[in-house]
Amino acid sequence: MPAPPLIEVEGLRHAYGVGSGLVWALDGVSLSVERGEFVAIMGPSGSGKSTFMNILGCLDTATAGLYRLDGAEVSRLHHDALAAIRNRKIGFVFQSFNLLPRVSALENVELPLSYRRMLAGKRRRHALAMLARLGLAERAGNKPAELSGGQQQRVAIARALVTEPLLLLADEPTGALDSQTGQEIMAILRRLNQEGLTIVLVTHEAEVAAHADRIVAFRDGRVVSDRAVIQQNEQAGIGQRLSEAGRYVR
Ligand SMILES: Nc1ncnc2c1ncn2[C@@H]1O[C@H](COP(=O)(O)OP(=O)(O)OP(=O)(O)O)[C@@H](O)[C@H]1O
Ligand SMILES: [Mg+2]
Repeated sequence: MPAPPLIEVEGLRHAYGVGSGLVWALDGVSLSVERGEFVAIMGPSGSGKSTFMNILGCLDTATAGLYRLDGAEVSRLHHDALAAIRNRKIGFVFQSFNLLPRVSALENVELPLSYRRMLAGKRRRHALAMLARLGLAERAGNKPAELSGGQQQRVAIARALVTEPLLLLADEPTGALDSQTGQEIMAILRRLNQEGLTIVLVTHEAEVAAHADRIVAFRDGRVVSDRAVIQQNEQAGIGQRLSEAGRYVR
């Protein structure tokens, strides 16, 4: 049997607040993401992108609807079970890096491994190898404030990937960076995707989204378009890609 999609979401709805103050941040989102895909989510401010990412990342559970991750239903799980899935299957990268300021790059990257009770020596080896993959071997001993924005985001990516997650979620990972540094981060994400990592990323910038294989647009808590991106080095497969590009939802 073929593996199920990595992400399957059906009729997802999410409300904030109560009574007359209720806001439906998500209002019926259905989509699937296959293993190995690189998806960019775009849409105006307040359209529900971060709400959707937080649910995909098991940081929150939806008010209604289904979410299957890696073939398993996670919609109705409670806090501890969600935390376990988050630690085992998901890496998260944020706009503001969210590194611990008082400890080194290396200790930041080691942190998710210490939750797994991995022995110190092994933990250090894994974290150093991941920092080296992101070109930061020489910076392992520096604290976040001693690093540039792009370097800090690379530390955050190393921290997200050190547990070898199935899925990397990135909510505006280039939003706090100048455009050249943002492009460098996107080149790194593209390379990781080519190595097999599934990525879902939120961005406001078309030139960032252009690095993905597929762009999903949100508006008012719904998906309003879903289309393939043709990468220049993949022109050979253009016919098939163009047929996929016809998949507009609304
Ligand atoms: N914690 C919260 N409490 C109440 N309302 C919230 C909360 N978080 C988000 N919302 C509301 O839910 C809607 C969707 O917000 P969300 O943060 O998902 O949007 P977004 O697409 O990520 O926007 P942005 O591009 O500005 O980051 C908005 O109307 C927002 O005001
Ligand atoms: Mg947001």
